[in-house]
Amino acid sequence: MEPLAPRTRLAAADIVIESHLDGAEGRSLAEDVLDGLTRPFKELPPKHFYDARGAQLFDQICELPEYYPTRCERAILSERAEELAELTGAVELVELGSGTAAKTRVLLDALSAAGTLERYVPVDVTESMVRECAESLTSEYPGLRVHGVIGDFERHLEHVPPADGPRIVAFLGGTIGNFPPGSRRRFLREISRLLGPEDHLLMGTDLVKDPRVLEAAYDDSQGVTAEFNRNVLVVLNRELQADFDPEDFDHVALFDTEHEWIEMRLRARREVSAVVRGLDLPVHFDEGEELRTEISAKFTPERVEGDLAAAGLELVDWLPDPEGLFAMTLSRRSPR
Ligand code: SAH
Ligand code: TRP
Repeated sequence: MEPLAPRTRLAAADIVIESHLDGAEGRSLAEDVLDGLTRPFKELPPKHFYDARGAQLFDQICELPEYYPTRCERAILSERAEELAELTGAVELVELGSGTAAKTRVLLDALSAAGTLERYVPVDVTESMVRECAESLTSEYPGLRVHGVIGDFERHLEHVPPADGPRIVAFLGGTIGNFPPGSRRRFLREISRLLGPEDHLLMGTDLVKDPRVLEAAYDDSQGVTAEFNRNVLVVLNRELQADFDPEDFDHVALFDTEHEWIEMRLRARREVSAVVRGLDLPVHFDEGEELRTEISAKFTPERVEGDLAAAGLELVDWLPDPEGLFAMTLSRRSPR
């Protein structure tokens, strides 16, 4: 399907927002449902969690005591942002899956203090997030230009505008772990195409650790993650006129020790016969049958370096948090 022509809108002199999505179609929801719910092992890609409600729930997840990645990544950024600003000399920050850009402000502060910061380019599927973050950042950082890209980072990276000087491409939150291994490397290669010789990739990766700590981070005691997981069914009901009862499904999070990734699933509590009316598609779950909604791969230093190398990137710096739970890496294109 051809993407719709981008609609560019100038909200203010220093804000440009481009949208490459048109509701469910732009997010490829219909295709993903046809593809993912008709297989023997049902599966949906995680980007469909993030409607406005999903984005809100994700923000709540980031505040949970069990969800350490956000806290750890913020600690690393606070400790090392000044050094990163100096080392990269970046005039712009491109951020993939930017969300509310909460931690990003630490980096923007450092670039702004170094006097190099000119532009921020958030890329996210959630329209409301890109718009709100453009508004608030331009008022928090006078003189900052924001070029927001509402789109799917797997399909719309070509719409990231060219840089006017050294840039940092940030991919935070361990979101790289949400790709299965093969497409992870392919995606890193796509990212490397955004990098010129002066540019850097700054990426956050969650590390392999005690499965109990990992499983708690994806199955919190307040049930916020469970609600987030079930929200994907709410999205299907609304966008594709499906008739799922989210309460028919249990939230499951388990660490797969062979692949070293967390799997999130929805497990049918009873036999479920639903209809996705928008697609004229009946969907049947046996009692206990599961729908995989996300993987979140956990990394070792070797795994990160191997993935970077496979994408033509070389490690410049390894930045772990003090507890050794999470790490960021700074990398650049390997000279050929
Ligand atoms: N960077 C933030 C948010 C991480 S959550 C943090 O570190 O806390 C993942 C973010 O990526 C969400 O904001 C979600 O909307 C966005 N996202 C997920 N899949 C995406 C896709 N395919 N294209 C663009 N954005 C995506
Ligand atoms: N990128 C985040 C991660 O893998 C996304 C995330 C955190 C998430 N908690 C979640 C996604 C719970 C779905 C459900 O850690």
